[in-house]
Amino acid sequence: MPWYPDDFIDEVTARNDIVDIVREYLPLKPSGRGYTALCPFHNEKTASFHVSPERQIYHCFGCGEGGNVITFVMAVERLDFPEAVKLLAERAGMDLPKADPRGGNREKRISRDTREVLYEINRESARFYHKMLYSSEGKAALQYLYSRGLDEKTIRIFGIGFAPDSWDSILGLLEAKGYDREKLLAAGLVVENKEKNSVYDRFRNRIMFPIINPRGQVVGFGGRVMDDSLPKYLNSSDGPIFNKSATLYGLNLTKKVRPLEEIIIVEGYMDVIALHRFGFPQAVASLGTALTAEQARLMRRYSSNIYVAYDGDTAGQKATLRGLDILRETGYRVRVMQFPKGMDPDDVLRTYGPEYFKKLMDKSLGLIDYKFKLLTQEYDLDTPAGKVDFATEAAKILAGVDNLIEREAHIQKIEQMTGIRARVIYDQIEKNQAATGQRKVKRNISGNNSNTRGKKSKTILHSSHIKAEMHLINLLAQGERISEKIIAGLEDLEAQDTLLWELAGIVKGLLSRKREVNPAHILSHIEDEAKAKRLVDIFNIEMEYDNIETFIKDCLSSIKAKQLDMKRQEIQDQLAKIEQAEIFDADRYKSLIKELEMINLEVGRRHTGKEGSS
Ligand code: UTP
Ligand code: MN
Repeated sequence: MPWYPDDFIDEVTARNDIVDIVREYLPLKPSGRGYTALCPFHNEKTASFHVSPERQIYHCFGCGEGGNVITFVMAVERLDFPEAVKLLAERAGMDLPKADPRGGNREKRISRDTREVLYEINRESARFYHKMLYSSEGKAALQYLYSRGLDEKTIRIFGIGFAPDSWDSILGLLEAKGYDREKLLAAGLVVENKEKNSVYDRFRNRIMFPIINPRGQVVGFGGRVMDDSLPKYLNSSDGPIFNKSATLYGLNLTKKVRPLEEIIIVEGYMDVIALHRFGFPQAVASLGTALTAEQARLMRRYSSNIYVAYDGDTAGQKATLRGLDILRETGYRVRVMQFPKGMDPDDVLRTYGPEYFKKLMDKSLGLIDYKFKLLTQEYDLDTPAGKVDFATEAAKILAGVDNLIEREAHIQKIEQMTGIRARVIYDQIEKNQAATGQRKVKRNISGNNSNTRGKKSKTILHSSHIKAEMHLINLLAQGERISEKIIAGLEDLEAQDTLLWELAGIVKGLLSRKREVNPAHILSHIEDEAKAKRLVDIFNIEMEYDNIETFIKDCLSSIKAKQLDMKRQEIQDQLAKIEQAEIFDADRYKSLIKELEMINLEVGRRHTGKEGSS
């Protein structure tokens, strides 16, 4: 949670009617029990965006975007969670609470004031480095930048600078301005020599690229050498305001592009800069690491279309592929661009120009097609064995595709390429799903996978305990009385790390604060957008049942059955291990067997119990 207290957030949600807020941005037409409009989050001709006054949520059946009044404001105003809460609070004429009385602060131990000082240090440093680029010491650096095609305007836009070849230039400057060593170290600009009990400049004789977050704060630097010495790039060390794996270079500029049709993700600083210069300001780079889920979430707010423009030779690597899956799981429509071997976007732009780059964008492949293409490079489709291997691997990939229509199209492609009948490929996919099913669906329910399209099809694929979890999530949001029952039922089960238990926690909080339990109130406690979307999906699932009490009981017992089953599996695994071990641990073996018997007994009892009641 942010530094706003829970009941403040509840109050903000309650005082801002979703219909009023949405109406400020879109014309709404009454329809059924709610309103519809053209979706503001994707291009469409018929209105598939729905707002429900009753549930205080919105949902687009076209693109899957959904949430409550807070997530709506986050999305249309491009704010983060606390910012959106603040805007809505002010709109409702509420006073903002003073800083968290517990002194708690989600950004680690360090106080907000200290953070401000660190930003200031970085800003001062960026200014200094930029000035140095135009001093006599910076001549070679400036020349280097020109030689790579940069002009004055680009240098200014990116605030590029030069760190002089000295051990104490930034140190001297900042100490003279009165900042203490501890802060300089925390900002990551100086390095400590413990033996000599001294500090010295981290960046020496390097071109400096300030890294600026979407709020316009300088969070760190990347520094490049001008020759071929190593390391080629040096980044600020991670610290209280800089976390490499949660930062994207260029996002501060990309954010300003409107309308932002898509984001282009590249590998390097110079790629972002070249793209910007050639008319593609929508480029960002991760900082020399494989893409992380945090980075993926960070830019999700600005666009859900992403073009991956990685160097010709890194694109097919394992870490890269994982990154592409992360993007898909975060809810992006992913297109993969392909570059000539040995070239990166910067090279391509400078050699072939922006039109060619645009062509490569148009020729980019969807994620699945891209993976297939990699497979065709791996297997020889002219041989029967190659075809079998190819189809087998392709089926594994398709097992991860939730949308049945999309899957069908790909199956046909495999059929054409290999001559293997679609029916067989289909069976193979099912088999893969059965094998990995459990893990896969668990991810779904915990909200990591936000692929919201094809909801119907997904429901078909879910096993019964997953369905049970979704039903309970849905029911949890339907009022105090029902949710109290479910929470009591869950307490008899073993707690799990899933969305259901997370939600139960939130609802418990609402109940204890005597708040009304409804979807909107629940959603206001979910900060993660992908998770919020997933929840709205679940809230939209139609349920059929005769008696709610029996229905809840059945759902709970389906989850319990699954838990028992997993436990049984676990014990059997342990037994097998003991059997194979060199020294036989008889005591442990016996006690495990006993445990297994208890579980079997319980499972048996549940079965007969069920038969008796139906
Ligand atoms: P590249 O070596 O592809 O650099 O590394 P580049 O951006 O094309 O740079 P130029 O064109 O040679 O100037 C890609 C990214 O990986 C990170 C940097 O963020 C770089 O932009 N990197 C690379 C490092 O952090 N350290 C290194 O030593 C090298
Ligand atoms: Mn390069």
